[in-house]
Amino acid sequence: MPSPSRKLLVTSALPYANGPIHIGHLVEYVQTDIWVRFQRLAGHDATYLCASDAHGTPIMLKARDAGVAPEALVERFRAEHQEAFAGFRVAFDNYYTTHSEENRVLVEQFYARLTARGLIAQRVIQQAYDAEAGMFLPDRFIRGNCPVCDTPDQYGDSCESCGATYTPAELKNARSVVSGSAPVEKASVHYFFQLAAFEPSLKTWLAGGHVHESVARKLQEWFTAGLRDWDISRDAPYFGFRIPGTADKFFYVWLDAPVGYMASHRNWLQKTGRPDSEFDAAWDPDSTTELHHFIGKDILYFHTLFWPALLEGAGFRRPTAVHVHGFLTVNGQKMSKSRGTFIAATTYLKHLDPEYLRYYYAFKLGSGLDDIDLSLDDFVARVNADLVGKVVNLASRCAGFISQRFDGKLADALDSPALYASFVAAGESIAGAYDQRDYGRAMRETMLLADAANKYIDDQKPWVLARDEATLPRVQAVCTQGLNLFRVLMTYLAPVLPRVAADAGAFLRTGSLSWAGRATPLLGSRIAVYEPLLVRVDPGAVSRMVEDSMETPPPNSAPPAPALAAAASPTSVTAEIELADFQKVDLRIATVLQAEAVEGADKLVRLTLDIGTEQRTVLSGIKSAYAPADLVGRQVILVANLKPRKMRFGISQGMVLAAGGDTGLFLVGPDAPAPAGTRVT
Ligand code: MSP
Ligand code: ZN
Repeated sequence: MPSPSRKLLVTSALPYANGPIHIGHLVEYVQTDIWVRFQRLAGHDATYLCASDAHGTPIMLKARDAGVAPEALVERFRAEHQEAFAGFRVAFDNYYTTHSEENRVLVEQFYARLTARGLIAQRVIQQAYDAEAGMFLPDRFIRGNCPVCDTPDQYGDSCESCGATYTPAELKNARSVVSGSAPVEKASVHYFFQLAAFEPSLKTWLAGGHVHESVARKLQEWFTAGLRDWDISRDAPYFGFRIPGTADKFFYVWLDAPVGYMASHRNWLQKTGRPDSEFDAAWDPDSTTELHHFIGKDILYFHTLFWPALLEGAGFRRPTAVHVHGFLTVNGQKMSKSRGTFIAATTYLKHLDPEYLRYYYAFKLGSGLDDIDLSLDDFVARVNADLVGKVVNLASRCAGFISQRFDGKLADALDSPALYASFVAAGESIAGAYDQRDYGRAMRETMLLADAANKYIDDQKPWVLARDEATLPRVQAVCTQGLNLFRVLMTYLAPVLPRVAADAGAFLRTGSLSWAGRATPLLGSRIAVYEPLLVRVDPGAVSRMVEDSMETPPPNSAPPAPALAAAASPTSVTAEIELADFQKVDLRIATVLQAEAVEGADKLVRLTLDIGTEQRTVLSGIKSAYAPADLVGRQVILVANLKPRKMRFGISQGMVLAAGGDTGLFLVGPDAPAPAGTRVT
């Protein structure tokens, strides 16, 4: 059903220009890019805008530490980010910066309009001040002992140890991160945006289906707590835009950042030779252009309360929708540098094809706020089973016959028009899933079709038909059918797999795919010679990527031998510990599945251990006492919760217990076979 063409402006959040793009960020940029590509495939006019978020204290201080101007730092990261995004085929129409003239003009316009409407108030506030560095301190730049549990080195707003939240003034032994001096309280005039004035209109807007129901529920909590005025100013020194009419006040980064969406739009119009009147039309309260923001749940408040209120206050249109996604975890946990799961986009690209990750994210993404987990084992299995085993395989099964037996020419008619029609019909539901950002459903429905297509080939058995001259024509019809089903599948996957889809289009000589075009099968034409469209994910490459991402501990902090083997014979007992200290150590019975000498290392054996729930690789310094072959099948005790360590010969995921000294080395284990994974207490 062709719906009339829509005009869409689509944004992803503007990344801070002070650190690398990582696989967590990519959830959002891949999610948005898939949506934009789908809308275009469906015939709509979508413009995808983004920019670097350039301003704020962290960027100012980072530039200062690096001895460069903040503008230079921002430009360096902006170039790096653009490269990372291009590597993942995130195809922005414009990737601008908030530190731009267009943005300054717009921010000043917002400010002038809000001021004219009496929506900005001035108040004197007390704030932590670093007298030595001559600057006010954001909460994150003050550290000290938690006022509740006394843990040292906690941030000025919350304790990472006990979870307490407090004000910087309550912190004990507070120190400025900038100079190390003790902060003092200092008064300063700040400018506040009167958010509460927008409560009724925000409630109406939120009831209008512009956010997912789970987001609306979250917002209801904030309304119940009451909307407070928002501090939009910061004192000099600050990297940002100066507030007109002041000498030393700047707009807070979170004011000019969302305005940066508009600046990027205006800049794109100019770059592409379009008239600026398109800008006015798009941002007018009566605009017919849709405005879609994609963001993570951490910045919901800014986009669903401040931003619509700012837009309304300044006489602009509000967003059509704010689409909020959850956070990425890797193997069920927060991304971690020590576990090697804090993976930079560029590190990923050194080891793996970006389309694997695009598919896995698509498979995991729903329309709500749920966090998504990248389980690395599941990632390998899922991509190999679905993309390689079902989709690409379908093309390779059929292509050979057409090339070798029919000179590359497709049959003039389908073998089963009904089956083909059912594939075309399924596109309605898949399109709906894409449009609602339920990519998980779009992928599952597409894979069910892939199963049906493979079953069709299995049932028809072209390799049997090809043995007999009489049935040879059917081979052409069956393989033509298979390749046409493949073409429909590729259309459904094209938003997720742009490179594979383009290569598939070239192989079928069908040009670029479109949603409407899937209804017309490819008949009687010639295809190109098939070349593998996607290879299997190599689990070794995944391990190397994780190793590459591990933060190596400083050289002298690494223990000398990887087994707990002590260096000396009977020594005196060390200082007492509490039972709770011992209980922190998670000891498990493990069965040795494999053991091999580590090439180039005198003492090390690489052990593959079964601990019931999973397998671990441990490098252990026990070669002087045990031949690897004798270890297989033996049970040992593993320190299972030891932080993985990156060693010269690979990663060790734990440590096995051994007793020892001058008299020898003795592996410790249960005295009779015990189930792997049993906890040792
Ligand atoms: N600069 C602000 C956004 C300003 S928009 C006017 C910012 N930048 S960010 O670099 O920290 O994050 C950019 C986007 O990436 C945010 O939407 C954020 O939610 C998302 N993600 C960052 N880490 C993430 C995960 N680990 N998982 C999923 N998304 C994450 O916020
Ligand atoms: Zn605490």
